[in-house]
Amino acid sequence: MKNDLIILPSAQPSFFKSMGSDIINTKTSSNEPVIESEVITNNQEITSVKKSEKKEYQILVKNVNVFYSEFQALKDINMEVSPKSITAFIGPSGCGKSTFLRTLNRMNDYIDSFKIKGDIFINGKNIYNEKIILEQLRKDVGMVFQKPNPFPKSILENAIYGLRIQGIKDKSFLAERAEDSLKQVGLWDEVKDNLKKSALALSGGQQQRLCIARTLAVEPEIILMDEPTSALDPISTGRIEELIFELKKNYTIVIVTHNMQQASRISDNTAFFYLGELVEQGKTNDIFTNPKYKRTENYITGRFG
Ligand SMILES: Nc1ncnc2c1ncn2[C@@H]1O[C@H](COP(=O)(O)OP(=O)(O)OP(=O)(O)O)[C@@H](O)[C@H]1O
Ligand SMILES: [Mg+2]
Repeated sequence: MKNDLIILPSAQPSFFKSMGSDIINTKTSSNEPVIESEVITNNQEITSVKKSEKKEYQILVKNVNVFYSEFQALKDINMEVSPKSITAFIGPSGCGKSTFLRTLNRMNDYIDSFKIKGDIFINGKNIYNEKIILEQLRKDVGMVFQKPNPFPKSILENAIYGLRIQGIKDKSFLAERAEDSLKQVGLWDEVKDNLKKSALALSGGQQQRLCIARTLAVEPEIILMDEPTSALDPISTGRIEELIFELKKNYTIVIVTHNMQQASRISDNTAFFYLGELVEQGKTNDIFTNPKYKRTENYITGRFG
């Protein structure tokens, strides 16, 4: 999956398939893709979600099941994520962490065999059952990937890429936003004299911070991170961890990690997945010091995974 999908202005209709019904992607005159999804699933579930509950949680996941063709990758997932918190997803390879993360901004829609059943509310809005503007969803729910992958463009152009895609041309606005987001990720002082230099000349850690800046520049509310430090050295990892912690003041963060120290250091809540099931979730401290299930304990103590 490429980083540029985060802010794609439009999406290919053929990708939008959902449980029992196609999701249609039609373009409006303003060039905004409106995704009309037929009501697919769980009508009863929708009505049973209280308004107050929808408001309280920035992300509310109800009975989500995910399939790739016949293979069930996620089984009856329920989750609540409060605003301005960090949630870590942990679990052995193949347990469904990335699949679940990608359901939160409909990134799996690009996979033909993908089907989803259940409901996901972001800020109270059911992102699979209501008419949504996919571009807006991806702006509100940004994504950072495992491997830093800046575009082969200048540092500046990378930082403002999402804004350019939105059609913003005002140079001083773009420069201001680039500076703000590069400052937010602690990269400004390192790059301010070289903004025209290729982003590919930066170190891996700097590239990842640039990718985070690119996500921040479009002002998301939620940032999804799929193993954002696994390709980085310990010093760069430490800087990104500090940054994630800092970003919590303004953003809701969901991070997938194989690094147990990282999960325990930075997250407020942890969810342990195993073979497509969400085995256990709760306050990070509780999960790491007093897990309810043997499988969780075995995993966090390194007995498998
Ligand atoms: N595009 C796809 N098509 C078919 N099956 C897939 C696809 N993507 C993932 N899967 C399967 O779904 C399951 C969950 O995969 P996923 O990538 O979500 O796991 P993960 O927990 O993120 O693993 P890792 O820690 O290795 O990244 C695996 O069995 C995987 O083979
Ligand atoms: Mg993964």
